Amino acid sequence: SSPLRLGIAGLGTVGRGVVQIVQRHGDLLAARAGRPVVITAVCARDRTRDRGMRLGDYAWEDDASALARRGDVDVLVELVGGDDGPAKAAVEAAIAAGKDVVTANKALLAHHGQALAEAAEDAGRVLRFEAAVAGGIPVVKALTEGLAGNAITRVMGVMNGTCNYILTRMQSEGLPYEAVFDEAADLGYLEADPALDVGGIDAGHKLALLAAIAFGTRPDFPSVALEGIERISIDDIHRAADLGYRIKLLGVARMTGRGLEQRMSPCLVPATSPLGQLQGATNMCVLEGDASGPIVLRGAGAGEGPTASAVLSDVMDIARGNRVSTFGQPARSLATAKPAGATAP
Ligand code: NDP
Ligand code: HSE
Repeated sequence: SSPLRLGIAGLGTVGRGVVQIVQRHGDLLAARAGRPVVITAVCARDRTRDRGMRLGDYAWEDDASALARRGDVDVLVELVGGDDGPAKAAVEAAIAAGKDVVTANKALLAHHGQALAEAAEDAGRVLRFEAAVAGGIPVVKALTEGLAGNAITRVMGVMNGTCNYILTRMQSEGLPYEAVFDEAADLGYLEADPALDVGGIDAGHKLALLAAIAFGTRPDFPSVALEGIERISIDDIHRAADLGYRIKLLGVARMTGRGLEQRMSPCLVPATSPLGQLQGATNMCVLEGDASGPIVLRGAGAGEGPTASAVLSDVMDIARGNRVSTFGQPARSLATAKPAGATAP
C-alpha cells in the first residue's frame, strides 16, 4: 500500500529523536502499520548545522508552513514549539492543505487546541498530541481508549520532568538550584523559555489538556490555579525531608459540584509514597475511572527518545487509519466547563 509521508518541522531534541526512530525502525513500523512510514521533507532554522544524522535523503524547507503545504507530505509533524508564530502558522497551513497533524506542542494546544482541533475536524483531518502530555507516557491514549468506558473522576500527577529533576537533585545531592538547572538544560529537558518549566506553566498546559480529555470539556488553561517551584529553597526541601515528606510540583483536576477544579502547585507528599519516590525527569499520572479505579502510569516525561516515542504512537495511529479525535470525542462536542476555582481541599 501507499507510504505515509511525513514532513518533520523542527530538528531539535524531539525532531532528532523522531528522525532516528523512523530511520532505525523502518521495517518494524511498516510491518505494524501495513504500509511504509517515511520522511519526505524536513525543516529547521539553520540548514548548515551538522545534526549528527543522515538528512540527505529528505527535501529541506526553511519555512515550516511551506513544508506543511508540500504535495509529498501527508502528515505535518510539528516539533518547532511556541504557542503562536511559526508553529501555529504551520499547523493551520497543514490543515488548510488537507494534511493530518501530529504535534508535541502543549503550549500551542493549551491556547489554541480547541480552534485547531475544530478546524481539523471541519477539514476531515486529525490533530494528535500524545507527546504533549507527560512525554513518553501514553496517557492520552490511556484516557481516550483504555478508559473510554469510564466516567473519569480525577486526574493528577507530576507532569514536568524539569521540575521533578531539579527538586529531586536538590534533595538527593544537596545541590543548589542553579547547578541542577544547568544539568537539566544539558539533558534537553527544558522548554525554549525555561520560565515555562519552573513557573509551572508547562505543567499547567498539560493539566488543562488532560482535564479536557478526561471531562469532555474545552481546554481551559487560564482557569488553572498555578504556582511554580522558583521560590522553593534547599531549606524548604530539607525541612520537608525532616518531617518525612518530599516537595513535588503536583497537578490535580477534578469535576466538583462547583465546577472544574484545576490546580498545579508545589505539594508535600509522603517520602515513601510512589509520588514521593519519583526521581529525575520522570512523570507520574494517576487516572481515576469510576469503573476502573485508579490507574498509575509512570515513565520518562521529557527528552529525545521518550518524547519521540509518543510522537510515533500518533504517527502510527494515522498510518493505521485510526481517526478517533485525540480529545476522545469530536472537539465541537466538548462542553464549556464552569471553573470551580482552587479553594477546595
Ligand atoms: P528544540 O528547541 O530542541 O528544537 C526546536 C526546533 O525547531 C529546532 O530544530 C529549530 O531549528 C526549529 N525551529 C525553531 N524555530 C523555527 C522556525 N521559525 N522555523 C523552522 N524551524 C524552527 O525544541 P524541542 O525539540 O525540545 O521541543 C519541540 C516541541 O516539543 C516543543 O513544542 C516542546 O514543548 C515539545 N516537547 C519537548 C519535549 C522535550 O523533552 N524536549 C518533551 C515534550 C514536548 P534549529 O535547530 O535550526 O535552531
Ligand atoms: N520541558 C518539559 C518537561 C518537556 O521538562 O517536562 C516535556 O514536556
